Amino acid sequence: MKSIDSLIKTNDVSYVYLNSINPIKAVNKISLSIKQGEYIAMLGRNGSGKSTFARLLNALLLPSEGEVIVLSKNAANEDDLWFIRKRVGMIFQNPDNQIIGTTVEEDIAFGPENLGVIQQEIKSRVTQALTDVGILDLRERAPHMLSGGQKQKVGIAAILAMHPMCIIMDESTSMLDPLGREELLKVVSILNKKEKITIINITHHMEEATFANRVIIIDNGKIVEDGTPAEVFTDVDKITKIGLDVPQVTLLLHKLKKAGYLKKVDAITVKQAYERIVQILE
Ligand SMILES: Nc1ncnc2c1ncn2[C@@H]1O[C@H](COP(=O)(O)OP(=O)(O)OP(=O)(O)O)[C@@H](O)[C@H]1O
Ligand SMILES: [Mg+2]
Repeated sequence: MKSIDSLIKTNDVSYVYLNSINPIKAVNKISLSIKQGEYIAMLGRNGSGKSTFARLLNALLLPSEGEVIVLSKNAANEDDLWFIRKRVGMIFQNPDNQIIGTTVEEDIAFGPENLGVIQQEIKSRVTQALTDVGILDLRERAPHMLSGGQKQKVGIAAILAMHPMCIIMDESTSMLDPLGREELLKVVSILNKKEKITIINITHHMEEATFANRVIIIDNGKIVEDGTPAEVFTDVDKITKIGLDVPQVTLLLHKLKKAGYLKKVDAITVKQAYERIVQILE
């Protein structure tokens, strides 16, 4: 696939909910550019605007102000809505809400059927999607009988069958046990590396940021941090002030720095932290 510089671009995009007593500005003039192949972890406190922003990116919500551009198509243009929705897929928190079919295969075929893809092509897309997420053996199974982790993989496969360029996970790992979470993240990492599918993982698990190559923190509807994981997690005090945790190993390095053993905090994985600590010991 040809590399595309800017896959998703937002220009001063805002979203205001008008259905409550007082209007709520959930997203406040966010401008950013997302490249094909990026793996983004999106973090922020409850109610900071992450889900609203995500829904703007795949045109489930339309901006109150500003623009969302996906591959040079503007979400404001009604003719381009489906173009955007099939390229930016979204998977949610509760896997049960995503099940449509009575078999896994049916469930995955639903998307391409809606797009008017011919039967023969649908079959091959379903097989490919199941293979890509490693659940070909579940093809004939009833989705509602599967484990949470398996259901989320079916959800990913259903998006893959639409041939997306970006997958947004809105707290998709939050209802899974540690093993299910790890397996889902592994599948998503492979899709990102091999297929160059852009990943946006909205999560409250700071450790998941270690999978990403870019971390974006949203607070009060605005982007307050945007950089590599090492850059963003350097300033532990600032992150804590926003009301977020930092990965445990980062906290450890932060304490070592405060105690005078380190000049800067630049590790978020166990491996990186191990290297820094060995340096101190040497
Ligand atoms: N359907 C809605 N109608 C009215 N207000 C809403 C709606 N959805 C969200 N909001 C409000 O918009 C703001 C942003 O909410 P949003 O769900 O985007 O945040 P979030 O960062 O995804 O939070 P969480 O981490 O809890 O999922 C909050 O103040 C929330 O109460
Ligand atoms: Mg949310």
